Amino acid sequence: MCGIVGYIGEKNSIPILVEGLKRLEYRGYDSAGIAVISNDSKKATSIKSLGKVSKLEDKVEQTEIDLSSIGIAHTRWATHGEPSEPNAHPHFNKNKTLYLVHNGIVENYSEIKAKLTKDGYEFESETDTEVLVQLIDSFIKKGNTLLKSVRLAISEVTGTYGIAVISQTEPDKIIVAKKGSPLVIGIGNGEHFIASDVNALIGHTSRCIYLEDGEIVEVTKDKFAAHTIDDEDIKKEVEEISVELDAISKGDYPHYMLKEIYEQVNSVRDSFRGRILMDEGTAKLGGIERIAERIANSKRIVLSACGTSWHAGLVGEYMLEQFTGIPVEVDYASEFRYRNPIVDRKDSMFFISQSGETADTLAAMKEAKRRDALILGLCNVVGSSIARESEAGVYVHAGPEIGVASTKAFTSQLVVFALISVLVGRKRHLSLIDGQEILHELESLPKKIEQILKLNNQIEAIAEKFVNAQNFLYLGRGYNFPVALEGALKMKEISYIHAEGYPAAEMKHGPIALIDENMPVVFIAPKDSVYDKVITNIEEVKARKGRIIAIASENDTEIDKLVDYSIKIPDTIRMLMPILSVIPLQLLAYHVAVKKGLNVDQPRNLAKSVTVE
Ligand code: AGP
Ligand code: GLU
Repeated sequence: MCGIVGYIGEKNSIPILVEGLKRLEYRGYDSAGIAVISNDSKKATSIKSLGKVSKLEDKVEQTEIDLSSIGIAHTRWATHGEPSEPNAHPHFNKNKTLYLVHNGIVENYSEIKAKLTKDGYEFESETDTEVLVQLIDSFIKKGNTLLKSVRLAISEVTGTYGIAVISQTEPDKIIVAKKGSPLVIGIGNGEHFIASDVNALIGHTSRCIYLEDGEIVEVTKDKFAAHTIDDEDIKKEVEEISVELDAISKGDYPHYMLKEIYEQVNSVRDSFRGRILMDEGTAKLGGIERIAERIANSKRIVLSACGTSWHAGLVGEYMLEQFTGIPVEVDYASEFRYRNPIVDRKDSMFFISQSGETADTLAAMKEAKRRDALILGLCNVVGSSIARESEAGVYVHAGPEIGVASTKAFTSQLVVFALISVLVGRKRHLSLIDGQEILHELESLPKKIEQILKLNNQIEAIAEKFVNAQNFLYLGRGYNFPVALEGALKMKEISYIHAEGYPAAEMKHGPIALIDENMPVVFIAPKDSVYDKVITNIEEVKARKGRIIAIASENDTEIDKLVDYSIKIPDTIRMLMPILSVIPLQLLAYHVAVKKGLNVDQPRNLAKSVTVE
């Protein structure tokens, strides 16, 4: 999704806007632009560029711009109209006095466009966004204030938006409004910052307000005034941002993804830190404490998410069913509301999302709310929309994840599912001893992750052999089946190699036809209760000359006779194995992509959080 940044205060706005865009670039990045109003002449200027923010930065540096202390900026992830300079934001009115940046989709843009065209308006871009700025312009022309014009315009819009608007006619303010796309206002001394993500605020201020849907705020350098779309005043609560600048910089790592893979030693620990009650063999999860009993008495638990978070849900399903005895279902959030889901108040639903902003997951959550289910959030980003709109929830505490390919958020989601399984399980039939065993094993994970990371060079050498592969097959059983899906997703999203994940036993029902001497097959084959079955599947691949990479237990020497490459990892209990077995797959995908010379942190066509349906 795109990023929005805005500044109003006394400082030079341009470096603040460009730096802010860089911090948000990971979210979506086909083009970028800024618009500022000069302090002296009160004239607005805008610069746009196709491609990365660094291109925009070069252009800005080469342009003479008057000192300006108010401006808005945007990185775009195109939904309507190809990535191009005219389609990049900010969009403007005909006289170039009014500028707007938008995140989201104006669903009824053709209707609005037709009406405005009739009134003589012309359009420069193919975007849905441009109708918004022209519509606001039409209200200003009728003598309305900027605030009122924005309010009237958004009342006509169906769809989603986070917008920031500036105008030469009222050069001392930024108007922002939100519905369905996140927006936050950072509060400084005699200055305000606008952002679609708190990452852009870090280092400037630690105080902020989060906008809710249907809110519109007039921001000047000293004040902000929030209103509903029906023009009622609202009092907003100021919240603290706890993220430090270090957490969002790359440090000495060449890529965020590698940094985040290595951070798992600590992020996994952070996810269980302070949440283990060893004597009682249970977990303490403040966010769901008061309704833990209700979850334990649910008729069913439904987990809903997209992408990697959905894979975490699949592992969560296995854990919860095994330790709580409650039936569990996992749903693609994007499918949930397009059927007639049978969900009611006896169901507990967890919405899993790293960003907490995924539009499909948010929409599923709203549908589940209508059906009275207990709505729980399992998010990483504190203060995100899903976290705010759920009745209760658990933060996964993985820390900021910037790389588009999710790594540490996944392992932290699994830690949290283990804790929930223990908490709810202990309220049902899970014994003290079994609860304690899980918790002890959880505590031993960071050390084991450290051990796995030492295999980095070995994994890099294996990656070298597969740089030219056209396909990959990932196979696993039981708890490691979702890991196969996740391994394949990692490979395809950053290396652009076609990869499929399957339950190992399903191979013989179709994918086996693909196997020949050119097909790399990754088996997740630790020594667990399905080990012998997986070995049979490995034999089947070997018989057809597939090239086999196995993720195996450290004490397993037998497997080396069957496979081409083995990556040996420490053992743990079955339910926690995915937290370990996924790490070599993250590293494998990473090294293949790096060796192919690809942009690992910002793979083509992808955005970190997909805030459109
Ligand atoms: C993961 O590597 C992906 N980039 C993607 O599948 C992601 O997991 C998905 O878009 C869901 O995001 P969320 O967890 O922020 O909701
Ligand atoms: N729908 C708008 C466009 O295509 C905004 C997309 C975005 O959120 O970046 O320009």
